[in-house]
Amino acid sequence: MPSNLQPYPPPHTPGSEGAEAANASSHAGQRPLATSIRNLTKEYVLKSETVRALRGISFDVPEGDFVAIMGPSGSGKSTLLNLLGCLDQPSSGQLLLGDDDVSRMSDDQLAEVRSRRIGFVFQSYNLIQQLTVVENIQVPLYYQGRLGNHERQRCIELAKLVGLGERLDHRPAQLSGGQQQRVAIARSLVNDPYFVLADEATGNLDSKTTEEILSLFDDLNEKEGRTIIMVTHEDEVAARAKRVVRLKDGLLQSDKTNSEADRTVARERQRQAVLELIAREESE
Ligand SMILES: Nc1ncnc2c1ncn2[C@@H]1O[C@H](COP(=O)(O)OP(=O)(O)O)[C@@H](O)[C@H]1O
Ligand SMILES: [Mg+2]
Repeated sequence: MPSNLQPYPPPHTPGSEGAEAANASSHAGQRPLATSIRNLTKEYVLKSETVRALRGISFDVPEGDFVAIMGPSGSGKSTLLNLLGCLDQPSSGQLLLGDDDVSRMSDDQLAEVRSRRIGFVFQSYNLIQQLTVVENIQVPLYYQGRLGNHERQRCIELAKLVGLGERLDHRPAQLSGGQQQRVAIARSLVNDPYFVLADEATGNLDSKTTEEILSLFDDLNEKEGRTIIMVTHEDEVAARAKRVVRLKDGLLQSDKTNSEADRTVARERQRQAVLELIAREESE
């Protein structure tokens, strides 16, 4: 999509810690980075104590990657997602989204990036009940005051992309959970985001619908080249990603690639399980 974005504050001039990140984003012949995370920390200062939610995390996500973020409760997953989603500022370290250094932005600048370049998918869909499918997809553009004819057409295309081309005028209550999540995914793409950030996007869904959404993520990643970063606590869901980053106690515990062979096995196993479920339902 032709982006009419103004450039954000000029790329960070490498300083002592910037040099490393600058290198990371300029590896010859490698894909550009959707995000680069360097020594990122986040502390929550409470009355009686300081909680070190992230204690210095570093990793890169190239464009086109599909990352699952896992880790026990309290390990810092939501904190990391909030920073990636520009909902909060880090305490220290560097966070690049594309070439934009968001770790040094003011709240207002962060809000601007968030509304223009971040795509969120939540467990609870967060759709507006009074609006139709296509209107829900338009919401981010509407708030930015850039909903012209071209953008309206693009929202229809996005509805088609997620398989809702026949339901443009339906309201959320007339849709299944999976269809509602498809609307949320289409909405997340409307801004041409750096990446789609999914927080337990399948957490509310039965296994059949989970498969439906994971297949959609597969397609968006493989066919559309979209970068996906999703938090999940389910091994089966993480097995579908290209890569699994595990956090523990605010630190990066492991960062592993799922082989294509393993991903295919996971995909087939889950599809088979859904087919068996359908067969059982039909015989009842
Ligand atoms: N807004 C907050 N204020 C204070 N402490 C917080 C806040 N958000 C998270 N924490 C603390 O930071 C740590 C990491 O939390 P979180 O990022 O929510 O982990 P996860 O999503 O992996 O469960 C936990 O100890 C949590 O209690
Ligand atoms: Mg959490």
